[in-house]
Amino acid sequence: MTFTVAIDGPAAAGKGTISKAVAAHFGFAHLDTGLLYRAVGRRTLEGEAAETAARDLRTEDLERDDLRTAQVAQAASKVAVIAEVRAALVDFQRAFARRAGGAVLDGRDIGTVICPEAEVKLFVTASAEVRAERRYLELTAKGQDTTRAAVLADVRERDARDADRATAPMKPAEDAVLLDTSTMDIPTALAAAIAEIERKM
Ligand code: C5P
Repeated sequence: MTFTVAIDGPAAAGKGTISKAVAAHFGFAHLDTGLLYRAVGRRTLEGEAAETAARDLRTEDLERDDLRTAQVAQAASKVAVIAEVRAALVDFQRAFARRAGGAVLDGRDIGTVICPEAEVKLFVTASAEVRAERRYLELTAKGQDTTRAAVLADVRERDARDADRATAPMKPAEDAVLLDTSTMDIPTALAAAIAEIERKM
């Protein structure tokens, strides 16, 4: 059986938490596609060309524990505008989506570009302020030194770059179900996601 759940949306909207919980609930595999762009972005910080890094990406690159920094996130959103980088990462994502037993992929363009045929498409969003506050608490809990203002500016800058790019801009698919987590807590959003998947199974 193949069954694909596409979960898109901006940074810190709750996508990751919902995707992991949905995958655990249904026993599906989960791919956080942001890690692919982060891994490429990190390699560019070491001086490598983005296109080469994307073509040569290995699974070990996705397992590094230094991919979750604000610096790598910015580098990821910069390489993510390059059409050749996105093209080099398509096959890996599509193969993952079709693996037996069901898959959840979260990102920005899963429902629109990577898996337009996904059985379920969700777009998880929240206001920039709510998302920045969540990300600020997450980063400071991990001991990273930052300010609320810096995190909000970073969230806004990445949102704009992700939504305005020419190739695969972040946007809800026409048939995506919207979950706004600024007006709904994560457990409520998760319950809505599970109900939507059960309806399509
Ligand atoms: O989701 P995450 O914050 O880890 O993503 C990092 C960056 O990777 C995003 O800001 C976006 O530019 C890019 N990305 C993308 N398409 C995806 C997933 C992530 O362009 N499917």
